Amino acid sequence: MEKRIAVLPGDGIGPEVIGEAVKVLRRVAEVYGHKFEFVYAPVGGCAIDECGEPYPESTHQVCCSSDAVLFGSIGDPKYDNNPAAKVRPEQGLLKMRKSLGLYANLRPVEPFDTLLDKSPLKEERIKGASLMIVRELTGGLYFGEPRGRSEKGDVAFDTCVYSKSEIERIARKAFELAIIRKGRVTLVDKANVLATSRLWRETVTQMYENEYKEKVCKATGEKLKLDFLFVDNAAMQLVTAPASFDVVLTENLFGDILSDQASVITGSIGLLPSASIGDGVGLYEPIHGSFPQAKGKNIANPVATILSAAMMLEISFGLLEEAEAIRRACKEAVGKKVVTPDIAVAGENNYGTTEVGDFITGMIY
Ligand code: IPM
Ligand code: MN
Repeated sequence: MEKRIAVLPGDGIGPEVIGEAVKVLRRVAEVYGHKFEFVYAPVGGCAIDECGEPYPESTHQVCCSSDAVLFGSIGDPKYDNNPAAKVRPEQGLLKMRKSLGLYANLRPVEPFDTLLDKSPLKEERIKGASLMIVRELTGGLYFGEPRGRSEKGDVAFDTCVYSKSEIERIARKAFELAIIRKGRVTLVDKANVLATSRLWRETVTQMYENEYKEKVCKATGEKLKLDFLFVDNAAMQLVTAPASFDVVLTENLFGDILSDQASVITGSIGLLPSASIGDGVGLYEPIHGSFPQAKGKNIANPVATILSAAMMLEISFGLLEEAEAIRRACKEAVGKKVVTPDIAVAGENNYGTTEVGDFITGMIY
């Protein structure tokens, strides 16, 4: 198979973790006889430095003309601490999501058996947990208009907007995933307060009644289930009963918050991959940020990005066996404790970003 992959390393530890994922992909190409072409382009703070914009048109063109996008992270403290900055790296990410039409963000949370003791949550609680957060990515408070400040500047506002069709297309992804997972969709909202949440509930319920109620889950042999949780309650259930979830369907901001929270189930945010998909090219990125304190120190965990590359092979290219080989190699690294400091046992050996990447690469044969 011949594929062109846009590679957007971004800021902070982005270039380091992306370097390892590309290494692994080159190995996959070699072992399985594929040809991957990697085309690099700037995004985020480094793109602002280079061309004054966090998501330049030239980068957009590279993404549009590729078969998938592999993305590191963006963000730089020099912008975080300056609320007056006119352009911010994060605007680049939002513009990229919007202009590539990436409305569905899939964030699987799968604890590694050998790391159960790394989570601050009790082992018996997280055992058996395996959930998929399906986060709407191009609507809600992140994009709604109007937004900004009053003339005097002493009042600020953001707007949460959702249309029925935006809800339907993301809910469809959630139901389809539930069919091949554990057969259950939980819609997380704040329907006791928000009008948008009530539209979500109404729309998702209608779809369930009309199209999905009779669908059978492949693994359980039972009909699909749909249930609802208010977001505050969901936040509590995620840490008290994480194993009770399968597919968590939610809007943009709730999904952002809940996915960071869910990452504590696995013990490190450095382990969680994600896929952002829409109607065109798909984008794959770790859920962690740019971790500027670790930049250049060779300590960042590359596993989340390597697992994102696996999601790319599976979802965008349909290469299931290759994706599984990467996941197996990551399990091997974690199981053999070839891991970065974030998940190493205190007092025991830990390894650098590049050494972990090399080990995982070597496990693909
Ligand atoms: C994420 C990040 C982004 C978001 C930021 C960097 C804009 O936190 O991908 O979860 O809020 O979506
Ligand atoms: Mn986030």
